Amino acid sequence: IPLKNYRNFIIVAHVDHGKSTLSDRLLELTGVVDPGQQNKQILDKLDVEKERGITVKAQTVSMMYHYKGEDYLFHLVDSPGHVDFRLEVSRSYASCQGALLLVDASEGIKAQTVANFYLAYSMDLRLLPVINKIDLDTANVARAEEQIATTFELPTRDIVHVSAKTGQNVEYLLPAIIEKIAPPMHCRPDAPLRAQIVDSWYDPYVGVILLVNMVDGVIKKGTKIESCRTKEKYEVKEVGIMYPERTPMPQLVAGQVAYVIPGFKDPNDAFVGDTLILANSDAEPLEGFEEPKPMVFVGAFPAEGSDFKKMEESLQHLFLNDRSVTIQRATSNALGQGWRLGFLGSLHASIFKERLEKEHGKNLIITSPTVPYKVHYTDGTEQIVSNPDEFPDGTQKQKIRYFSEPYVEALMTFPSEYTGTVMTLCDNNRGEQVDMQYLSNGQALVKYLLPTSQLIDDFFGKLKSATRGYASLDYEDHGYRPSDIHKLELLVNGDGVDALSTVLHKSQLEKTARRAVQRLKEFLRIQQFEVIIQAKANNRIIARETIKARRKDVLAKLHAADISRRKKLLAKQKEGKKNLKAVGQVRISSDAYQSFLRKD
Ligand code: GTP
Repeated sequence: IPLKNYRNFIIVAHVDHGKSTLSDRLLELTGVVDPGQQNKQILDKLDVEKERGITVKAQTVSMMYHYKGEDYLFHLVDSPGHVDFRLEVSRSYASCQGALLLVDASEGIKAQTVANFYLAYSMDLRLLPVINKIDLDTANVARAEEQIATTFELPTRDIVHVSAKTGQNVEYLLPAIIEKIAPPMHCRPDAPLRAQIVDSWYDPYVGVILLVNMVDGVIKKGTKIESCRTKEKYEVKEVGIMYPERTPMPQLVAGQVAYVIPGFKDPNDAFVGDTLILANSDAEPLEGFEEPKPMVFVGAFPAEGSDFKKMEESLQHLFLNDRSVTIQRATSNALGQGWRLGFLGSLHASIFKERLEKEHGKNLIITSPTVPYKVHYTDGTEQIVSNPDEFPDGTQKQKIRYFSEPYVEALMTFPSEYTGTVMTLCDNNRGEQVDMQYLSNGQALVKYLLPTSQLIDDFFGKLKSATRGYASLDYEDHGYRPSDIHKLELLVNGDGVDALSTVLHKSQLEKTARRAVQRLKEFLRIQQFEVIIQAKANNRIIARETIKARRKDVLAKLHAADISRRKKLLAKQKEGKKNLKAVGQVRISSDAYQSFLRKD
């Protein structure tokens, strides 16, 4: 099939507008899968994706289509719908020339449709508007058309009306794709090989599999290739297309988006965005992708008595298929040896957390999510702090000029009667309004700058409940802004519980501090001596609770300030129980940590 008959495209849609269903119909029409087996959702391959019904990683599937006497090769590149995976989305777009812009006829344009539209538009993709779910009673095709015309300035005559569910009109899409989307003519089959890694995953049988965008040249089994990034050389074991599963081919040619098995086992050798060239060739590497930046961090610690090594192995395993997670060893006075995990966003973090909890249940303690804060020193240097306990606590102030925290630009759509409620919610979350528009038929579209820390504190959940579930949200990174933030520490009998430290905006300090000490009190077992729970910020105690001793003992008679003496005595008592984790000589059970950290 000649290059001019290749079509590489993507489906852009808001969550649940029917992207997977439509893909299934296209695969049936082109004979890639048998019709009849409803909603197989070929593209959502990862288990988590199936469980959560969301797409995380980019998948690709190829189709063959005969049209007006010629054969065409389509590559449908799947992309994540959720905003946490924005970079994955733009990577998928990079290998395409066009997009089906899918809009649910009953819901109309939503935040993600708008955000993904602008992204696709900025990357010069040809956009084909498609209105889906026309079979629904609640479908309002005229309204969806008007929204497409006014918001995206796309001509209504180009809009195809389909029902992905019943298959109605889907057959008109394939010719439209051929007529309207350009082939990847910038690709050069005769030039020396340049293939960009778009995605990689791990298969226990064949090792690492790479999804590549073939920009120049040809690659086949036995080709000796080199990574521009690592300079490592490999001999290709297999190449092929996803049809819909891995289907080996004699060779891959420029213009295709397909897979390569490079014959190495270590996923750390595969870098998304890296260019593969022929071994010892002097072909220029392609422009790489922006590296994903973790935006949400949590600490993870094995609960008392569980096996650190085993847990580390299983963490490593989970990472093999999700390279956007970062992992580092971490130590806590309260929780011992553990890890600090970084995620792209809160959904990403919660999916991962769910998987960990499924596997390890009560054996794992996961701390509150936090964003990476920035400390700006007077000497002009900056430091990113992603562990609240490492945040400067006020004693070092002389060296620090100011702090800043990450922001997002959030785009929300909802029925306009909720405008007031949403604005209040945004204000309460330290938001700053940027833009506000009314779409046709009663929808409002507002843009706010929001601190990322507020966003990850279940902002979407709050937005949903403020709008009875009608709001949708999308966001993108907006860099750092100076902020009046402080570290809040919890102390038990005078000793800080490092794993429970948080960083907060000044306006939230007092309230959070009071709640935190009350909550921690609830979860601590009654001890044999008095326990004082305090919250400290800027070297000042701002909240305090006391747990009375269960019964009088010698310690109670000691002067309260004589902490070191008391500690010594208790330390003696504790001999033989050394591996119990204790803070301020108070044994805090794993359960107590888990209950405290659980969202209320
Ligand atoms: P994500 O993978 O989360 O992005 O969702 P998606 O956009 O892939 O949506 P999906 O295809 O999973 O469809 C969402 C829901 O809408 C499913 O319950 C589908 O059965 C339903 N659906 C999709 N297309 C149609 C349609 O044309 N008509 C009707 N009535 N329902 C549809």
